[in-house]
Amino acid sequence: MQTIQLRNKTLEIPVIQGGMGVGVSLGNLAGHVAQCGGMGVISTAHTGYRCDDFWQNFLEDNLKELKNEIGKAKEIAGGRGMVGINVMVALRYYDKMVQAAIEGGADAIISGAGIPMELPAIVGDADIAIAPIVSSGKSARVICQAWKKRHDRLPDFIVVEGSKAGGHLGFTMEELITGREQSLEEIFRDVLEVVRTFEEKYQVKIPVFAAGGVYTGHDIRRFTDMGAAGAQIATRFIATHECDASMAYKERYINVKPEDIVLIKSTVGMPGRALRSPFVERLLRGEKEKISRCLVCLRPCDPKVAEFCITTALTEAARGNWEDGLFFCGSNGYRMKKIVHVREIIDELMREYGDGM
Ligand SMILES: Cc1cc2nc3c(=O)[nH]c(=O)nc-3n(C[C@H](O)[C@H](O)[C@H](O)COP(=O)(O)O)c2cc1C
Repeated sequence: MQTIQLRNKTLEIPVIQGGMGVGVSLGNLAGHVAQCGGMGVISTAHTGYRCDDFWQNFLEDNLKELKNEIGKAKEIAGGRGMVGINVMVALRYYDKMVQAAIEGGADAIISGAGIPMELPAIVGDADIAIAPIVSSGKSARVICQAWKKRHDRLPDFIVVEGSKAGGHLGFTMEELITGREQSLEEIFRDVLEVVRTFEEKYQVKIPVFAAGGVYTGHDIRRFTDMGAAGAQIATRFIATHECDASMAYKERYINVKPEDIVLIKSTVGMPGRALRSPFVERLLRGEKEKISRCLVCLRPCDPKVAEFCITTALTEAARGNWEDGLFFCGSNGYRMKKIVHVREIIDELMREYGDGM
């Protein structure tokens, strides 16, 4: 299998594990994916949620725990693969999380839920790969042009995320409900066309990874045949022993029915996809959750009008609270039948990937 060069690091397999907050992909999951030669990704969304003083001291807790989790992942990885972090543009302390990731020794920064216009300026000369998550060829073009013009830098790689992903989605609710959004394949082709023009003009290589509903090695193969370097996969890694959330959280993803995976309006200002928990049922009925405390953690979120606190809902989920938790899930999340080891998933993916060669 061909290795993939990202800046000065190497992936042995064409797999990035997608960042999952809060508390779903931390150092343990990321470290085990990296140990298999892929890129394990730690979500920076409230890495410190388990600290006793989290609601009083969340910023310090998040920064400290992010560095700890990167260290843990690197130790598990034992020098193989890459350890990245995922940081949402919507986070109020975006620049501080990026700095902490650099200080913690992360190999890559993947950034979405908005356009990461200032990412190159924040990383400066640090030796770290940077990548935007895009959901259209247009965003890919805007980012490449702006990064080159303002910072003389291009992305080290790009993640293209389609509408089947879990978590926040870069599409309007109307597009998703009516099914009028572009397919991942269509978006991927558009992004690749944009990327090729920058590659030719500046004589560089910008590997592109497809994400959102990629589940098998055959899926990965389909995209690499179209010109992708590989795929980013998230939901499937929830049902692993190594996933960092509680066992009660992971068990909720086993034997789910397709109709139990639904769309919600998130306080990030984007639609999201999640399991139909009692909490989500309440949101779908139009009920407003009581917000008793606020960290002012997301730029687009106004606690006076927000229907719920996403930090509370996601931390409750990670602890396994089905009643009050928000369990993000990709549209293929109904396919998991048991909890397995990361190594088993990677072996299966690579076997299937090889079948298609
Ligand atoms: C539980 C969960 C949490 C997620 N959290 C984040 C996040 O914090 N930031 C982000 O950019 N993407 C997040 N995502 C999106 C994933 O990183 C990934 O790109 C996407 O889910 C890929 O599709 P798949 O789940 O079908 O493999 C999340 C997805 C899930 C399922």
